[in-house]
Amino acid sequence: MSKQVWKPGNMLYPLPAVMVSCGDKEGNANIVTIAWTGTVCTNPAMLYISLRPERHSYQMIKETGEFVVNLTTKDLVYATDYCGVRSGRDVDKFKEMKLTKQKAEKLMYAPIIKESPVSIECKVVEIKELGTHHMFLAQVLAVDIDERYMDKSGKFRLNSADLMVYSHGEYFNLKEQLGTFGYSVRKKTTTKTKNKSSQNKVNLPKKELKWIRTDTKKDSVKK
Ligand SMILES: Cc1cc2nc3c(=O)[nH]c(=O)nc-3n(C[C@H](O)[C@H](O)[C@H](O)COP(=O)(O)O)c2cc1C
Repeated sequence: MSKQVWKPGNMLYPLPAVMVSCGDKEGNANIVTIAWTGTVCTNPAMLYISLRPERHSYQMIKETGEFVVNLTTKDLVYATDYCGVRSGRDVDKFKEMKLTKQKAEKLMYAPIIKESPVSIECKVVEIKELGTHHMFLAQVLAVDIDERYMDKSGKFRLNSADLMVYSHGEYFNLKEQLGTFGYSVRKKTTTKTKNKSSQNKVNLPKKELKWIRTDTKKDSVKK
């Protein structure tokens, strides 16, 4: 069967659907659901969100230069959808969804959402007016991790949080693990060595191993 060629459009899926929290200088807070988001740099840690200027949140984020990306889970899927179809102009989404505002560690105006397993505190460094959406390029100032997902050895078990993804108009959770980073080139281990600590070791150049660790290590921000 051949492939159909469609006109240019957005077909990059799955994506995270995150709840972005923000605030204004008068003390009002809001949440907007965003799927047009992604990591763009490891060091300095940077990400972007793309927003339509007509969103209520747009002005808040532009005015303060701050926002928080809150990861979403199965338990938060209803709230995530709601925050993506109702405007903060008309409703208080924190109140309606019974979500808890919590003071961010490094930001003045944007609160974090307590119920989210990971809240990423961001400072805008550039706004790029692309077309329908303006891209807010931001530096990550702190990452707030829910201690519920820290295991006894101090490892952050993000994949125990039942994270949610958005794909082509539908929400899903991540049911089955298919592999781990670098498993395609990892040396086969014998049963004997498997029982030892080498079980999770990845046979990759040091440089790449470092890259993986930045993804899982405990944040350096002292509380
Ligand atoms: C799953 C989902 C993803 C969305 N992604 C974006 C996005 O990336 N950018 C955007 O501007 N709006 C996006 N929206 C729409 C806004 O979240 C929606 O218009 C919201 O009501 C705006 O809220 P506000 O007016 O309080 O800012 C998305 C909505 C949903 C449901």
